[in-house]
Amino acid sequence: MPPVVTFLPDGGSLVVREGTTLLAAVLRAGRPIGYSCRGRGVCVACRLLVEGDVAPIEPAEAALLARLDDPEGFRIACLCRVRGDCRVRATYW
Ligand code: FES
Repeated sequence: MPPVVTFLPDGGSLVVREGTTLLAAVLRAGRPIGYSCRGRGVCVACRLLVEGDVAPIEPAEAALLARLDDPEGFRIACLCRVRGDCRVRATYW
C-alpha cells in the first residue's frame, strides 16, 4: 500500500510514493505552504507539525530545526521524506 499523507485538521489526504518530500505532497495537494528558498533547505518557512511514518531527521534538517524557537514536533517539509502513513499540520491552515 502506498503511503497516505493526511492534512490536519480537516482530514484531507493524498496518496504519495514512498520517499516523496512533505513539501512535494503539500504542493501536489494544492495547499498553501511557505517555501521561499524553493526547497533548498535554507529558509525553514516550510516547517510543518508531523506525526507518523517519516524518515529520521538528518543532520542538515537538525541544523534548521535548531533555528526554531520551539522545534518540538516540527519537521522541515522539503527535507522530510514520507515512509508510510503520516499526518501533517501547518500553523496557518
Ligand atoms: S523550502 Fe526553504 S527550508 Fe524548506
